Amino acid sequence: MKKMISGIKPTGELHIGNYIGALRNFVKYQDDYDMYVFIANLHTITVPQDPIEINKYLKDAIALYLACGLDKDRSTIFLQSDVLEHANLGFILACHTYEGELDRMTQYKDKKAKGAEGLSAGFYTYPSLMAADILMYDADFVPVGDDQKQHVELTRDLAQRMNNRYGDLFTVPEPLISEVGARIMDLQDPSRKMSKSDQSDKGCIYLLDSPKKAAKKIMSAQTDSLDQVKYDPENQAGISNLLTIYAAIKNISLKEAEALFTDYRYGDFKKAVAEVVVELLETIQGRYNEIIETDIIAETLNEGKIKAQKLASAKLNKLNKTLGIQI
Ligand code: AMP
Ligand code: TRP
Repeated sequence: MKKMISGIKPTGELHIGNYIGALRNFVKYQDDYDMYVFIANLHTITVPQDPIEINKYLKDAIALYLACGLDKDRSTIFLQSDVLEHANLGFILACHTYEGELDRMTQYKDKKAKGAEGLSAGFYTYPSLMAADILMYDADFVPVGDDQKQHVELTRDLAQRMNNRYGDLFTVPEPLISEVGARIMDLQDPSRKMSKSDQSDKGCIYLLDSPKKAAKKIMSAQTDSLDQVKYDPENQAGISNLLTIYAAIKNISLKEAEALFTDYRYGDFKKAVAEVVVELLETIQGRYNEIIETDIIAETLNEGKIKAQKLASAKLNKLNKTLGIQI
């Protein structure tokens, strides 16, 4: 069975962009792949955080993974910091990553271009840690949203570089980007990605938003004056985003979604989108409320840690010997 790995950084509440771009795909894949899903909590501290604030999101993230349909018996679900080997391999890979490669990473470049000061060395080398997360388990595929493609490409380069230098060490992974919903946009400003770090939360639907609040956000989403429900991200970014959300949740193509709404007024179209979003949130939140009351979170993380650590320690032992740093 081919192996797959992905992680989500729990820096805030998960939103429908995370669900559509990442989580729902993990759930789909867990029957056909040997699936590893982890909470990328080491990645959160690459930028300054309030410990109390981020700790709140940790438990929620795992509960939401499970509520969205990930299953500990079909996937290995774990916390990155529970497997210390990640940081260790991250350092080794950072030693094999060129400065120029990190300079070219969009996330870093964007922050720099915006004049960010005091960025940490951890933030700069974060793509090497992400490569470690992936290469540790010899994953064949990495399902991620569009924004992470560049990091997976660097991971491939690193795997090939290490293999060329030291012999066959790592599987070279491939990014897997879903056709529909790889980039859900902000509802208020559809030129920006929907994101946890949104200033105003009107453009972002959180998985734990009340259905009423979520419906309101959809109803007040930015549209245009063209008066036609068409998938045309260039000229109708807002409408195209809503169509994408609808198609992704209903699991249909954009063409099929578009065909359903020809001749619809925007108000009625938005109502239809709000309805499927509300239905989704109600399902997820129902399960979330059950899970949060039980021991299943601790059990899941315990089992995941044991499985992941076994592979990780074997990998690191082999690597340390290959590099000549272990007796
Ligand atoms: P992050 O929230 O940045 O840690 O992302 C976790 C996962 O969700 C990654 O695979 C991202 O690519 C995906 N993701 C985050 N935001 C969006 C979005 N607005 N649309 C689609 N996928 C997203
Ligand atoms: N960097 C990813 C993000 O910000 C999260 C992540 C960390 C990840 N390690 C990973 C995703 C390994 C896939 C595989 O979304």
